[in-house]
Amino acid sequence: MNPAPPDLTESTEETPDRHIRSFVLRQGRVSAAQRRFHEEGMPRWGIPYQQTLLDWTTVFGPLRCAAPKILEIGCGMGETTAAIAASQPENDYLGIEVHTPGVGSLLKEIATRGLTNLHVIQHDAVEVVRDMIAPQSLFGIHVFFPDPWPKKRQQKRRLIQPAFVHALAQRLAPNGYIHCATDWQDYAEQMLAVLTAEPLLNNIASDYAPRPSYRPQTKFETRGLRLGHGVWDVIFRRTA
Ligand SMILES: C[S@@+](CC[C@H](N)C(=O)[O-])C[C@H]1O[C@@H](n2cnc3c(N)ncnc32)[C@H](O)[C@@H]1O
Repeated sequence: MNPAPPDLTESTEETPDRHIRSFVLRQGRVSAAQRRFHEEGMPRWGIPYQQTLLDWTTVFGPLRCAAPKILEIGCGMGETTAAIAASQPENDYLGIEVHTPGVGSLLKEIATRGLTNLHVIQHDAVEVVRDMIAPQSLFGIHVFFPDPWPKKRQQKRRLIQPAFVHALAQRLAPNGYIHCATDWQDYAEQMLAVLTAEPLLNNIASDYAPRPSYRPQTKFETRGLRLGHGVWDVIFRRTA
């Protein structure tokens, strides 16, 4: 039996609060390993979506209360998320992903690498940020290679839009950072424009930033590079 899907409809229409979903849930194949790691890992490293603010101490434990908290939106199969968490043990990471195969793979990474600083929520990140993340509680936000929705009529589905970026900026602590990356030039331009227009944020570079060493090359990036796309990193900090 497949793992229980998240409590979301497959509809790509507006949600009750009228935000347009940035994803379409498809009945993708879940491998036996993904299913097993999902079933075994969710009770341990999964955090159920709830309409109340997350208590970081309950998630990561009281000894980690000083550890910077970093949110990653759209982890995909989780290799990058896990690699970053493994290489930066001083930080705590919360990954958000909607697709069961990806969450299963991420949980496999957590289990096999023995990570204690990475947990996951399987739900729409827009709702998680809105309902669960307290203002000024994050040191960083990663949005790596979000779905590009390349066709003009689909672009309203893109995650990096003014209202969501404002919600994200509010969740950052002063000097906290948001780091977006994409291999679609017009999405990179949109990211730069939207983040520049957000009054709570300042660009750390004059426009695009060099890829920081903490961000490994992702699967989607590798694919994009193979297709001859460029890659753009956009990094802003919250005003002090
Ligand atoms: C193109 S993939 C990139 C995955 C990964 N970041 C990488 O670079 O390899 C985008 C991912 O974002 C997820 N996603 C899209 N919208 C989301 C949302 N609103 N909440 C959570 N995950 C979302 C998709 O399911 C997909 O796995």
